[in-house]
Amino acid sequence: MSRSALLGSSLAKKYWMALTGLFLCVFLIAHLAGNLQLLDMSPAGQLKFNAYAKFMTTFPVVKIVSYLLYASILFHAFDGIILTIQNRKARPIKYAYEKANASSKWYSRQMALLGMLVLVFIVLHMKHFWYEMHWGPLGMDADGNKDLYTLVAAAFAQPLYVLVYVASMVVLAFHLMHGFQSAFQSMGLNHPKYMPIIKTVGIFFAVIAPLFFALIPVWMFVNASPVQ
Ligand code: HEM
Repeated sequence: MSRSALLGSSLAKKYWMALTGLFLCVFLIAHLAGNLQLLDMSPAGQLKFNAYAKFMTTFPVVKIVSYLLYASILFHAFDGIILTIQNRKARPIKYAYEKANASSKWYSRQMALLGMLVLVFIVLHMKHFWYEMHWGPLGMDADGNKDLYTLVAAAFAQPLYVLVYVASMVVLAFHLMHGFQSAFQSMGLNHPKYMPIIKTVGIFFAVIAPLFFALIPVWMFVNASPVQ
């Protein structure tokens, strides 16, 4: 298969977007499972979370998967932007385009915008936590691990952070609501027998995952210890 057929055609782009999108969904489940440890705000919970963060940033297999993750985020976003531009060019008359899609849900028509907002969230989020974990001047905990827990707790003691996180999770929910099932269709896995199950799982995932992600900052804000 030629290079352009593999990467360049809009069918190939949709396929790669679907594949990277589903990989990002798997990451979300793993990331959520790890972050739910933050709900334990005791000193023991703090040490456990920091030990987990150390493992996630130093274990070689996890590091390799992380590089795949960064590449997937960039690829998914880049292909999404290119596909949106191509679609707009193919349908220059906006009115006709919107009319043709009048029966679709608003979030299905705003996937590019929702995706851009999620990307902005990821960039800010990685700057606040991931960058600081790798290169920031973090303190050490009682076990000698970098104290990422205290950085996260300090962020989520501020109402603005909590608000931005909760709002971003609403955006993520709508992006996933269309994205999950659409990925199966783009990959040709839309057998009439299985599509209703895929749609139901997709809606469940799109609601539950962001809901639990949003719970973390809210919980940490509500249970934050008062400043000494
Ligand atoms: C609101 C709940 C969330 C919390 C408390 C949280 C916490 C964290 C923390 C502490 C890190 C740094 C850990 C490290 O460097 O290994 C991190 C990394 C990251 N987070 Fe989150 N996160 C949340 C939600 C999300 C969401 C919804 C996304 C995606 C839409 C996301 C994407 C990422 C990515 C891509 C990284 C870098 C991962 C890596 O280096 O392997 N996070 N997060």
